[in-house]
Amino acid sequence: MERFDSGQNPPHRSVLYHQIILSLRPESPGRYVDATVGAGGHAAGILEAASPAGALLGLDLDPQALALAGQRLAVYADRAILVHASYTTLREQLNAIGWQQVNGIVLDLGVSSMQLDTADRGFSFQTEGPLDMRFDPNGPVSAADLVNRLPENELADLIWRYGEDPLSRRVARAVVQARPLSTTRQLAEAVSRGHRGKHERTHPATRTFQALRIAVNQELQSIETVLPQAIEALVPGGRLAVISFHSLEDRLVKQTFRRESRDCICPPEQPVCTCAHKAVVVEVNRRPIEAGAEEIQTNPRARSAKLRVVEKLPNLA
Ligand SMILES: C[S@@+](CC[C@H](N)C(=O)[O-])C[C@H]1O[C@@H](n2cnc3c(N)ncnc32)[C@H](O)[C@@H]1O
Repeated sequence: MERFDSGQNPPHRSVLYHQIILSLRPESPGRYVDATVGAGGHAAGILEAASPAGALLGLDLDPQALALAGQRLAVYADRAILVHASYTTLREQLNAIGWQQVNGIVLDLGVSSMQLDTADRGFSFQTEGPLDMRFDPNGPVSAADLVNRLPENELADLIWRYGEDPLSRRVARAVVQARPLSTTRQLAEAVSRGHRGKHERTHPATRTFQALRIAVNQELQSIETVLPQAIEALVPGGRLAVISFHSLEDRLVKQTFRRESRDCICPPEQPVCTCAHKAVVVEVNRRPIEAGAEEIQTNPRARSAKLRVVEKLPNLA
């Protein structure tokens, strides 16, 4: 069960909450990392399941999220360590607290509903706010910087690569014509002008906002950086669970998990193996775990969630 003090606002609902607990199988006195601790929903479940002595390191780039996690996890305070840091520094953070290896790690990627619902963070085109989108408010680049400074062709490339918007060139032109832009609504309107006449299921700004958020926070590079560190940090039998929310993230996770679960990664046309690569993990589920209809009904954000899990192999040497 998720726990929270009745005096507080109810916590936001963690996506695939039960599936994360079932996948990580937390137990006492294990060590766990929630590398995207957010409001602490998954972390609370892990600490509860690992009672009485299991410990958790929680990381987040967002100080507001960490403050919420601190409140949420107060009941486990003697077993929870919360650090304002990027998960790209996972190894450094583990070294800093003297943890060589851990029993389980969860990464719940992307933006939280709390961040989306806070207008002045600038993540949502549905509310008026500044064009920010930084997970870490001290991050070097905001969405406004990219939108107002990038040359049109680079903006178009960014919207194409990270938003997979087939109308990226038209959108970039409309955005450049509307400069300077300072708010989410101004950007959403400019994107809509770029999409004029095209009727789609989702709002035309969805893809551009996703693209800018990914670029502002260097999300794909961060995932590529953390996955090897996370696998390395697991004890034999330890598990890494990653929830992704769009195909660009999921592809990276899937490719890394496939590669690290194979003994040879030579090109298929090569007759003799020369890579000497050794599998270090086994995929717990070949296909991603997805949310059930009931969860999607109460939490529409869960619709696009995909959970992949690997387990570290015993040391074979
Ligand atoms: C979907 S939320 C996590 C929600 C959390 N699992 C829960 O149960 O409340 C994703 C979180 O990851 C954080 N985040 C994004 N990139 C990060 C990074 N590179 N390092 C650490 N945290 C990051 C965001 O600030 C956000 O709070």
